[in-house]
Formats: sequence, C-alpha cells, structure tokens
Amino acid sequence: MNDSYLKFVNSPLGGRVARSFGLPKPEVLRRYRADTPEFDGLIAIGAGRAPQLLDALADVVKSTGLTSVAHESAGLWIALANRHGLMTGRFEPTEPGAHARVAALVFDASGIEDSTQLDALYAFFHDTLRSLGKCGRIVVLGRTPETCDTPRQWTAQRALEGLVRSLGKEARRGITSNLIYVAPHAEHQLEGTLRFFLSARSAYVSGQVVRIDAGSGAVSNAVDWAQPLAGRHAVVTGAARGIGAAIASVLAAQGAQVIGIDIPSAHDALVDTMRPLAGTALSFDIAADDAPAQIAAALDETGVDIFVHNAGITKDKTIAKMSEAAWHNVIDINLSAQERIDDALLAAGTLRDGGRIVCVSSISGIAGNLGQTNYAASKAGVIGRVQSMAPQLRARHITINAVAPGFIETQMTAKIPLTIREAGRRMNSMSQGGLPVDVAQTIAWLAQPASAGVTGQIVRVCGQSLLGA
Ligand SMILES: NC(=O)c1ccc[n+]([C@@H]2O[C@H](COP(=O)([O-])OP(=O)(O)OC[C@H]3O[C@@H](n4cnc5c(N)ncnc54)[C@H](O)[C@@H]3O)[C@@H](O)[C@H]2O)c1
Repeated sequence: MNDSYLKFVNSPLGGRVARSFGLPKPEVLRRYRADTPEFDGLIAIGAGRAPQLLDALADVVKSTGLTSVAHESAGLWIALANRHGLMTGRFEPTEPGAHARVAALVFDASGIEDSTQLDALYAFFHDTLRSLGKCGRIVVLGRTPETCDTPRQWTAQRALEGLVRSLGKEARRGITSNLIYVAPHAEHQLEGTLRFFLSARSAYVSGQVVRIDAGSGAVSNAVDWAQPLAGRHAVVTGAARGIGAAIASVLAAQGAQVIGIDIPSAHDALVDTMRPLAGTALSFDIAADDAPAQIAAALDETGVDIFVHNAGITKDKTIAKMSEAAWHNVIDINLSAQERIDDALLAAGTLRDGGRIVCVSSISGIAGNLGQTNYAASKAGVIGRVQSMAPQLRARHITINAVAPGFIETQMTAKIPLTIREAGRRMNSMSQGGLPVDVAQTIAWLAQPASAGVTGQIVRVCGQSLLGA
C-alpha cells in the first residue's frame, strides 16, 4: 500500500511545502539491499566506568568493517582497537552544516554501578548526537538489571531504558535507538544481535530493550553472515501474502529451505509466493482439527529448525456487538492453533533441538485497542506463550520469541478506515508505517543460530509507536 504523504514530502516540491507549513517530514528509511554494503561509515564508541563489553564490541566492529572513532569517555577503546588490529581515531564533532558521517553511536554502559555514574552517558550523547547521520543507529549496551549484585547497580542499569527510549524520540530522521542488556557470561552471544541493531535490517525497530543470556546452545565461530540460515528448514504460516510472504522471502534469501502454509482459498497466491523461493506450498487451515497432524506428516522426513507462527485474522467489533463466532475464530486461529501445533511438533521431536519458534503478536496485544477485545486477547496470549514456554524449552536449546508489529502496510491495515489508518501510520518516531520486510528481517534475526542467547523476548517492530509505549 502507498504512503502518498511520505512520497510527497520527499519530493522537491513536497519538501518545500512541508518546510513552509511546518509539516512533519518522515524520512525515507534505509533498508537492507543485497546490492549495497550492509555496514558503511563511522561508528563512534563511548563508555562508562569499567566497561566490560568492549572486547565483544571490537569483534563486531571487525566483522562489520566499520571504522571506529573513540569519544573521550572511551579512552580504553584506542588501545583495545589497536590490539584487535582495527583502524581507529578520536571522535571529532561534525561541523554545523557539514554532512554527518557517523553511522552509529554505541555506548558500553555495562560497568556502571551507581546512578551518579550515568553522567558519562550525558557527555557522550550530548557531544555526538548531532554528528549522527540520517537513518543512523544508537545502541546502548548494559548489564541485565535482574542479574545485578546491588540495588544501586540494578537502578542505574534500569535507568538506561528511559534514556534510550527518549533518544529514539528526540533523534528522529529515521534514526533508531535500542538497548541490549547482556547477562554475565553472555558476551559471546552479543554479535548477531548487535549486528542486527547496527544494520539497515532493523530500519523500523526502535525504542526496544533486548536481553541476551548465555544461551544453552553451542555458538558457532564461523558464521556466514550473508547466509546465516543455510541448511535450515523453516515453516511460515499465513505465507500467501503480506507479512508472511515477506518472512518466507527473507528466510529463503538467508539460505533457509521454506515451507509456506495458507488456507485453501489462498492456494494460487501461496504457490506464486513460494515458486521463486524454491519453497513448498501447503494449503490447509491451521485451525483445522487435523492441522497439527498434517504439518507433522509434511515435516516427517526433514524435521524443522524454524517455525514462524504468522497467520492471523481480525474480526473487529466492540465486545457488546461482537458475535460469539467472531470471538472464537480470532482466539482459535491467532492463539489456540499455535498451541496445538507446537505441542504436536515438540512431542514428536519434529522441531529439532536447537530450533527456533517465532510468533507474531501485535502492539494491540500490549496496548489493547478499541474494537479488538478478541484480537488483543489473542495477541497478549501469544506473549504469555513466549514467556511461559521459554524456560521450558531451554533444556532442548530451543528459543521462543515474539515480534509485535505496529502499523505495517498490508492488506490487513488497508481495511482500516482512512482517518484511523493515517493516525496509526504517523503516531510513531518514524512518522510512517513499517513494511512487511521490516517484520521479516526481525524474525530472521531471531531465527538465526547466532541468536541462541535471545529467548522469551517480545520485540516490537513499530517505529517506536506511541501505542502501548
Ligand atoms: N499488518 C499489520 O499492521 C499488523 C500489525 C500487527 C500484527 N500483525 C500480525 O501479522 C500477521 C500477518 O498479518 P498481515 O498484515 O500480513 O495479514 P494478512 O491478512 O495480509 O495475511 C495473513 C495471512 O494469514 C492467512 N491465514 C489466515 N487464517 C489462516 C488459517 N486459519 N490458516 C492458514 N492461514 C491463514 C491469510 O490467508 C493470509 O494469507 C498476523 O498475525 C497479524 O495479526 C499485523
């Protein structure tokens, strides 16, 4: 679906009109393209006292090929970067009016133990934010508060959330701002997640807090970052169109062999989606009684490594006017069907140890929404599933996470009345809706072998929507 306002204000005439009338000017977001370098430009590094993640950060800077510059708060970085054989220099602010060359600001706050030490964050972002270019990246690295030794340390680490979310709202210009909490001994799990948040793949993910733990699966040293899903078998439900089609396409582009499932009436669209991906199309209703058995039978020989529960429906009405069928269908397709399918695949061992389950929730499940008691209950239930199952699946090295999309441009949101649709599009830090590919890229990150330390998490893909914030 077209966002004509975004196109208009980014045309020469529209830009002038927007400036004269003081209208908001959403940035055209920089998204991942296979024909463009994934990482490019300068990364400015800052640090609080006794930073503990600089070595892990150096590995990422090395593998991305970014050139680092050290802010004065990160004096340690120069020596460490030299040890790692990285080109580095000192951060110099961009002159007013000059092209901002910094692509990313990363601050290691992991050693901060007391609120009085938060001043270092002020100094870093005060000095550097204006030098961050359009669609730049802000990432703060902290210690998971729940693992902190003292209330003071927990307090100071928790304070980072407020800073990061506010930076996302202040920075605008397509810039994202996210916080990664790393548990003790989980430093080796940081790379895949930090790469995602630094790259153009996370174009519409902002204001998020992700917790990384030590994970239970083995970490491979030789990750092929261009094809991280090579050799993996993936299933995507609701793959005929919209977000599901984008998920199937991104997983395939990253090397996965994909099976797409959709209802029989969407068979032709499903086949059209799967054909260029050399994937398999399966047509049936995931809520049918025999769906778990059909899926298990289709996966009997290959097993599955990645299962994406994307299929979902809306049947909106205020609860007083809602039919029992509308309530039941939404809960059944969006939530109960997922439970039945996972139970069957886990019981039979069809979902292999070390596997990944990714569920599609919604910001409606976080904030609630008028006319969506059924939908919001189903999507909040999905969050409950993720949180309750993550600890249980740990022993089998299986992770389970959810993405919660905000306003994404699909046929589902095209059905929303115009004024509500326009409000939904603009009420976020990016002042625009996301695209299906934004959700798909986030799911692909969670599905990677390198995301073994990310489980039980809900990651919003909403451009930092004000709803449920
Ligand atoms: N578009 C958004 O803004 C948005 C926001 C938040 C969450 N979501 C969620 O993202 C997911 C995908 O949404 P979308 O916008 O692409 O929707 P969509 O309606 O364009 O696509 C959903 C797909 O699921 C399929 N499907 C529905 N019921 C099914 C069933 N019983 N069995 C098999 N397949 C079935 C449909 O045929 C369709 O192909 C949904 O779970 C939705 O709730 C979307």
